[in-house]
Amino acid sequence: MNVRNIVCIGAGYVGGPTMAVIADRCPDVRVTVVDVNEAKIAAWNSEALPVFEPGLPEVVQRARGRNLFFAPLTPQVLAEADMIFVCVNTPTKAYGEGAGMAADLQYWEKSARTILAHARPGTIVVEKSTVPVRTAEAISRILNQSNRDEVFPVLSNPEFLAEGTAVQDLVAPERVLIGSSNSSVGEAAARELGAIYEYWVAPEHVLYTSVWSSELAKLTANAMLAQRVSSINAMSALCEKSGADVTELSRAVGMDGRIGQRFLEAGVGFGGSCFRKDILNLSYIAGQLGLQQVADYWRSVVDINDYQIDRFCKGILENMFNTVAGKRLAVFGFAFKPGTDDVRDAPAIRVCTRLLDEHAELAVTDPQALDNARAALDGLPGTVHYLADPYAAVAGAHALVVCTQWPQFRELDYERIFASMEKPAFVFDGRNCLDHERLYDIGFNVVPIGKAPMRHY
Ligand code: NAD
Ligand code: UGA
Repeated sequence: MNVRNIVCIGAGYVGGPTMAVIADRCPDVRVTVVDVNEAKIAAWNSEALPVFEPGLPEVVQRARGRNLFFAPLTPQVLAEADMIFVCVNTPTKAYGEGAGMAADLQYWEKSARTILAHARPGTIVVEKSTVPVRTAEAISRILNQSNRDEVFPVLSNPEFLAEGTAVQDLVAPERVLIGSSNSSVGEAAARELGAIYEYWVAPEHVLYTSVWSSELAKLTANAMLAQRVSSINAMSALCEKSGADVTELSRAVGMDGRIGQRFLEAGVGFGGSCFRKDILNLSYIAGQLGLQQVADYWRSVVDINDYQIDRFCKGILENMFNTVAGKRLAVFGFAFKPGTDDVRDAPAIRVCTRLLDEHAELAVTDPQALDNARAALDGLPGTVHYLADPYAAVAGAHALVVCTQWPQFRELDYERIFASMEKPAFVFDGRNCLDHERLYDIGFNVVPIGKAPMRHY
């Protein structure tokens, strides 16, 4: 193996944890993570890491200063690299052609041009960001413009980690996907990257494909996961109309081994930085290639998600006698899922925005994401309190609205909570994570997702 010096451009939710695990598992490889955001680099070098991930501080502690470094992006860092991962953000484009659908590749392209300016010929470039199919080919054109040989071989190595379980997903990945060109240079580069992973991943879990299959497999995996969530959420609406119970439905269909139990939890909708953007991107690509039915099919996964959030908000309003104006509502959980401080595209953002439109007063509580919640709702008209203590959030509230199923919410003293609330007191459980029978017995009116509401009137 020739790779002794790895650099990663992008110190975000993926770049930071991924490189920390590579450094931890490959003690003789030097790993440097760089970013244009200097405050983020400073945070990675401090005790307060910029992302919350269970188990991450321990991994960083072991490797940082030994063979893991967080540093500003300088020409010298790039010049020393044998392999450069590009792990920059690829958000939905907000302007121009494809606005609201296509991926914005400006950060990727800027990174490629910086690599071209400063890296040594022969440096392997690894596309870690999630990108449209054939991006590596475009990047390769930029990097190898004056030369028909692959001076900078470009590999696709998408990341499948989920937030909240990033460290365990990286330590024991179900698969590592490496896409390369089928030239001898491309295949040799793929073997170099494979050798890094094989420090700790069994070879049978390392899958080699073409660059295009690798890029498209990443978009497909996210689309199919999100499609399961939208499928069960669509059924939750039908359950509410028909008297069926969506939890029973999930269990019953999931026991079929061909379907499987995972990703069948109905709720207020999927969030996170990727599902929505990746599906819109996939739909856009299909449309651009003239496959309108394919584009519409995937688009409907996002449409059902929007419908689900809308249904949830309408349910709150209808149950609370068609007005929440001036009423305090406690929002339990703001992160897009438990185990993370990430609020990007969190359903809570849209739920809160809708409730503020209705002139509700909100009290948001979340064990990790309060600062990000404050930033996400900043500037919206209305009153929002951010309270670390759920008991303080709920005091004087007319309703408790669950947007994230943090396990600690189950452990709270709901008799105490009920006593401190206005009556009638409502629970809108957007994650079906609380003990509904018990809450009903205490006196709450309970409105779950995909099952009959339990009201005292
Ligand atoms: P992020 O926004 O947390 O991090 C990206 C970082 O790149 C930022 O810190 C930004 O400052 C930096 N950056 C942007 N342009 C730069 C440049 N020119 N030079 C140096 N640094 C630059 O994003 P993320 O969540 O880590 O996602 C990164 C990519 O990984 C995306 O394509 C995403 O789709 C994909 N992905 C994300 C996840 C996830 O769970 N978040 C999982 C799998 C894949
Ligand atoms: C997802 C994928 O699971 C990762 O494999 C992928 O790497 C990543 O996107 C990415 O490309 O960014 P993540 O978004 O971190 O990971 O979290 P998930 O566990 O997939 O949850 C996404 C959303 O779906 C959450 O809001 C979650 O609450 C929701 N969800 C998930 C449900 O509503 N029901 C379910 O049954 C499962």
